[in-house]
Amino acid sequence: MNSKIESLDAPRSTDDLEVTADASRRGYRLFAPLYDTVFGLSLHHGRRLAIDALDCHAGDRILEVGVGSGLSLPLYPPDVCVTGIDISREMLEKAARRASLRRLSCVAALLEMDAERLTFPDASFDKAVVLFAMAGLPDPVRAMREIERVCRAGAMIVVANHFLSQRPVAQLFDTLLSPVYRLLRYRADLDLQAFVAAANLDVTASLPANLFGYSTVLICNSRRDASRPG
Ligand SMILES: C[S@@+](CC[C@H](N)C(=O)[O-])C[C@H]1O[C@@H](n2cnc3c(N)ncnc32)[C@H](O)[C@@H]1O
Repeated sequence: MNSKIESLDAPRSTDDLEVTADASRRGYRLFAPLYDTVFGLSLHHGRRLAIDALDCHAGDRILEVGVGSGLSLPLYPPDVCVTGIDISREMLEKAARRASLRRLSCVAALLEMDAERLTFPDASFDKAVVLFAMAGLPDPVRAMREIERVCRAGAMIVVANHFLSQRPVAQLFDTLLSPVYRLLRYRADLDLQAFVAAANLDVTASLPANLFGYSTVLICNSRRDASRPG
């Protein structure tokens, strides 16, 4: 299984793991009841680091792509406007319950939507964040282009993800988690350098996150052209 990104235009695939929106939907439909137990605390440090890095200000319009069960939502300050999108209805229902039970005033909307086909007009958001969802998208580069399109020029985009690692501890985690990753169609072998190059990301910082630095938080500035309309 190797999902190094070779070009901007070819759909990304793994040798033996088909990553499609339908397969992910099916996986999360089955796994939604267990998601928070397995990936709640274990990814909390990365969520916290990523949202702190967003440097939220009152009124910021923030897009969260692959918001899932909304574990990140309580981490935002109350005076921002977060729009979360996800392809899984079951995960979104959990997010909506969390937002309602905890009266999270930061949550502006939770919408069922494909990260690669965002239905927002250009420049709708000030910032965007993708938490542990990028490696589960059929075409992460296409999703990044869409995110840049719907954010204003120069917007901060923060991506937290696990990337391919040669470190034995990371490989051990990959092996232990491989049945779950397979169900969720999540690539453990997304190559960081290849992704950054293919998506032409302007990375300003890269921070290790979660246990043993298993994940990375990438802080980027959108290269969207300010002269474009929107
Ligand atoms: C590993 S979970 C991360 C959830 C959440 N961000 C967190 O920190 O726990 C990945 C999420 O991405 C969503 N997802 C998968 N494919 C997607 C797509 N094409 N468009 C939008 N969301 C997608 C899944 O439904 C799932 O909720």
